[in-house]
Amino acid sequence: MRVLVTGGAGFIGSHVVDALIGEGHSVAVVDDFSSGKREHVNPKARLYELDIRSRDLEQVFAKERPEVVNHHAAQVDVRDSVADPIFDADVNIVGSLNLLECAREHGVRKFIYASTGGAVYGEPIRLPCDENHPLNPVCPYGVSKLAVEHYLYVYRLSYGLEHTILRYPNVYGPRQDPSGEGGVAAIFARQMVQGEQVVINGSGEQERDFIYVHDIVRANMLAMDRGQGQVYNLGCGVGTSINELFAKMKEMTGYASEPVHGPPKIGETLKIYLDGAKVKRELRWEPAVALEEGLRATIESFRDTP
Ligand SMILES: NC(=O)c1ccc[n+]([C@@H]2O[C@H](COP(=O)([O-])OP(=O)(O)OC[C@H]3O[C@@H](n4cnc5c(N)ncnc54)[C@H](O)[C@@H]3O)[C@@H](O)[C@H]2O)c1
Repeated sequence: MRVLVTGGAGFIGSHVVDALIGEGHSVAVVDDFSSGKREHVNPKARLYELDIRSRDLEQVFAKERPEVVNHHAAQVDVRDSVADPIFDADVNIVGSLNLLECAREHGVRKFIYASTGGAVYGEPIRLPCDENHPLNPVCPYGVSKLAVEHYLYVYRLSYGLEHTILRYPNVYGPRQDPSGEGGVAAIFARQMVQGEQVVINGSGEQERDFIYVHDIVRANMLAMDRGQGQVYNLGCGVGTSINELFAKMKEMTGYASEPVHGPPKIGETLKIYLDGAKVKRELRWEPAVALEEGLRATIESFRDTP
């Protein structure tokens, strides 16, 4: 199948591209390299260095005629979304709408959307959160990611554009960017491998649902022709605290120091983990990589290229 992956130079998108190419699909990547890396783009993919908000996106669709769009490009930083909600909305909402318009005009069959279970529910009133939990994002990033879910509903209703929405938990693994606000596992891995001081934001009692990137990729593959019009939480339903994560990784790396605790992040949910019963039932997906196994692979990747 012809697949267009946005954000295909990023952490999760680049693994999705590898899997698609591995399965024999014809893949085009759109990425502006704002956080993605050229070296992560599979050489067998056709690469378009382009902002998803650009008017030139239309030409990519005309040339590539994708049957499936897999949308991973986004402004992904919660703190940046608080500091500049207009930029966040511009990339995440207007950029996604630009894609949807191109998809509609060029007869795309299926749109797979990387949403966020960590930010659309807000502070949970029950745990683990299932897909029917109230949607009350507590940061602009959560609002912008959720807005696109609503647009997808409209495009299916109005134009028959099929979609599957995947609400990700905390995804971790090789290629995650540890600089700035990247995922906590990547940050800890780099700091521990390099013997730097590890800083935990807040008490460390925050709990998250950590899923290894290859499991997330598998769900994207299943969504190619299934789960039409559905939204799925990709979670294991169990929370792991940041302090527990630190302890596991400290043991694996032999890191010698204790963590320093900094101020908590604004807009951050205290505890969130996702009920994955629906995706297990309907797509037969459940995480296959245990946390210890995934963390080991992540740490090794940072030893190779810190
Ligand atoms: N990492 C997680 O734990 C997590 C959790 C929930 C949801 N998500 C979602 O998954 C997707 C991928 O996240 P990631 O962690 O791989 O982040 P990432 O920053 O590694 O990847 C995002 C990619 O999008 C590109 N990009 C950003 N703005 C762009 C624009 N305007 N035009 C074109 N390309 C642009 C970046 O260069 C980068 O390659 C995002 O949509 C994010 O909201 C990630």
